[in-house]
Amino acid sequence: MARLCTIRDVDWRGKTAVVRVDFNVPLGRQDGRVADDTRIRAALPTLQYLRQHGARVVLLSHLGRPDGKRDAKYSLQPVADRLGELLGSSCPFGSDCVGQAAQSAVRAIGPGEVVLLENVRFHPEEEANDPGFAADLARLGDVFVNDAFGTAHRAHASTEGLAHHLPAIAGLLMEKEIVTIGEALDNPKRPFVAVVGGAKVSSKLAVLENLIDRVDRLLIGGGMANTFLAARGEQVGRSLLEADLVPTARDLMRRGDKILLPSDVVVTTDLKAADTQPRACASDAVGPDEIIGDIGPRTAADFGQAIQAAGTVLWNGPMGIFEDPRFADGTLQVARAMAASRATTIVGGGESVQAVEQAGVADKLSHVSTGGGASLEFIEGKVLPGVAALRSDC
Ligand code: 3PG
Repeated sequence: MARLCTIRDVDWRGKTAVVRVDFNVPLGRQDGRVADDTRIRAALPTLQYLRQHGARVVLLSHLGRPDGKRDAKYSLQPVADRLGELLGSSCPFGSDCVGQAAQSAVRAIGPGEVVLLENVRFHPEEEANDPGFAADLARLGDVFVNDAFGTAHRAHASTEGLAHHLPAIAGLLMEKEIVTIGEALDNPKRPFVAVVGGAKVSSKLAVLENLIDRVDRLLIGGGMANTFLAARGEQVGRSLLEADLVPTARDLMRRGDKILLPSDVVVTTDLKAADTQPRACASDAVGPDEIIGDIGPRTAADFGQAIQAAGTVLWNGPMGIFEDPRFADGTLQVARAMAASRATTIVGGGESVQAVEQAGVADKLSHVSTGGGASLEFIEGKVLPGVAALRSDC
């Protein structure tokens, strides 16, 4: 992919940057404050760069899915409070992202200062990618900086539409996500090992299809492995199984002998009864009444070895029902193996990010993506509309 134009390609003196960030962060139910500021921290390099180079910085984001209506529970005000703490100077907040309120909030900041405007999804035109609304957003500044990798799979007014009205370039987070994951897919240090998990094959089929010809090894765990075990002729008891995808799994297994499946698993007869003690057994010894909740210890060790021997590891999706401590070991072991590996280690968003945080190893990995759906679509090989709209002619 051609190099994206970034904020480094612009002389910011006298200019106002309209920066789309993904500040879709969880808020505490009790206090309404930001409960996890990972995505806010991830945008700081871009904000610091722009401030240091004299830009006025106008931030746009969504929070949640307010369905095009103003709803106090989805206000970005708590995010402005947290951002101010992180920047070390209070961050002014504009009560709307377009119109008078937005214009006067923007006029009130000077060079090197940052203002966050209210949730773009309070307007139905945002998700409809309405050109008039995008033109209103464009009136906020001179250059559109997209740093919202987590929302790059959405063709919305503030992620895609704006690019038709202002010069559109990438922020440093967007650049890092695209370059790191893109490099792993297109030009990996070998051996290239992908670890794919999660509940269903159907939701990862496009990922598997895009990876199978690129990787040297494909380690499959999680509920989706059951369909592959069935394709290998094994019984999976009452475990989640997508019977219609067994032939697809069989086809994938024939493509180059790259797939490594669990050789043992952790099973229970009742997922809900927290007091039942699961047992580990060979993958071909699952009883008719049993449900697979995790990969077994031998598999975790085998996966760990493959990760150790890798030049690049890309991980997406947990190895089991890791939110239940009885079935968390396989996922946590993969996280630890990645942290201990000298490979370029990339975690592609969503639940696997929670897992590396739970294992306390996020800072030991090369890259932990801020995208959930976006990183999944990127790994599927799809063109992300928010990225496609950016310039690459600098
Ligand atoms: C995310 O959290 O994955 C992004 O912010 C996108 O949010 P959305 O799925 O509501 O578009």
